[in-house]
Amino acid sequence: MKDKITYLLSEIRSAQIANKAQLEEFRLKYLSKKGEISILFDGFKQVLSDQKKEVGQLLNVLKTEAQEKFSAFSQKVENEETVNVKSDLTMPGDSIEVGSRHPLSIVKNEIIDIFSRLGFTVSEGPEIEDDWHVFTALNFPEEHPARDMQDTFFIEKSPDILLRTHTSSVQVRVMENQKPPIRIIMPGRVFRNEAISARAHCFFHQVEGLYIDHHVSFADLKQTLLYFAREMFGAETKIRLRPSYFPFTEPSAEMDISCNLCGGEGCAFCKHTGWVEILGCGMVDPNVLEKCGINSKEYTGYAFGMGIERITNLKFQVKDLRMFSENDVRFLKQFSNSI
Ligand code: PHE
Repeated sequence: MKDKITYLLSEIRSAQIANKAQLEEFRLKYLSKKGEISILFDGFKQVLSDQKKEVGQLLNVLKTEAQEKFSAFSQKVENEETVNVKSDLTMPGDSIEVGSRHPLSIVKNEIIDIFSRLGFTVSEGPEIEDDWHVFTALNFPEEHPARDMQDTFFIEKSPDILLRTHTSSVQVRVMENQKPPIRIIMPGRVFRNEAISARAHCFFHQVEGLYIDHHVSFADLKQTLLYFAREMFGAETKIRLRPSYFPFTEPSAEMDISCNLCGGEGCAFCKHTGWVEILGCGMVDPNVLEKCGINSKEYTGYAFGMGIERITNLKFQVKDLRMFSENDVRFLKQFSNSI
């Protein structure tokens, strides 16, 4: 038995292992259940007791060497194979998924682009606001329903900290900090305490505009909005202004555009009226100018505000508002060509 062990030991020491197949051959021959070393261990019972100690030690040396050689070479073979794979420059590369811009971002950028051609610059403000910037400075009476928990998400009460319900809070911040002329648009996310459905969501996006200077008139407002409507929805688009009410503008109006689906003929989308509402607007109330530190005898201004989701729905006919925040790539990818 001793001879057999010595013979196997020298065989193992000189064995050549260059690839996975040879490694497996080595394992089967020496280390598997039916391999040479197992057979020797099985025969150990027959060894005479005075030789057991010496043979046992030899056997252990044999087994350890075989195992060490096996594990050293399995690492080596593994490393060599991965190096080979990495350095094969003819392999086709992994394709990189290119994302697409969100439809709301596409439309927001287009709105910014149109107004920047008229000299408007972008201003932004915080989403978490206080009562002053969202309501009080904007002339909301104490008992106005928007100040109710049912309409507004309050974070803290007295002093009130809340999620802004409109981007008009940014006009207050700008008027407090800048001298006229002011000509800005204010895009941003706003929050309202509404049950989520296809037609309403607890957050959405607005773009608000503000222009304050000497002698700014309602005619300026109308012309600016007509320019916007035609740039956004096409040169044939008509606009109409209906009297309305906002606490911070006087007079106030809502603007409709001729339905861009039926061209004003009347269809299910415009409920057969030929018109669809797209924004609120008006002349900034002198009270608001004064509250924000602007002399209302010297300056006048107009403001307007629109929902980006609404404009996007009109442009792309998205029927369900929830699609915008579900992050379903099958939906989002459809707009990648419209950038
Ligand atoms: N802030 C109004 C809203 O959220 C929109 C608006 C802005 C109306 C500016 C008039 C002037 O509905």
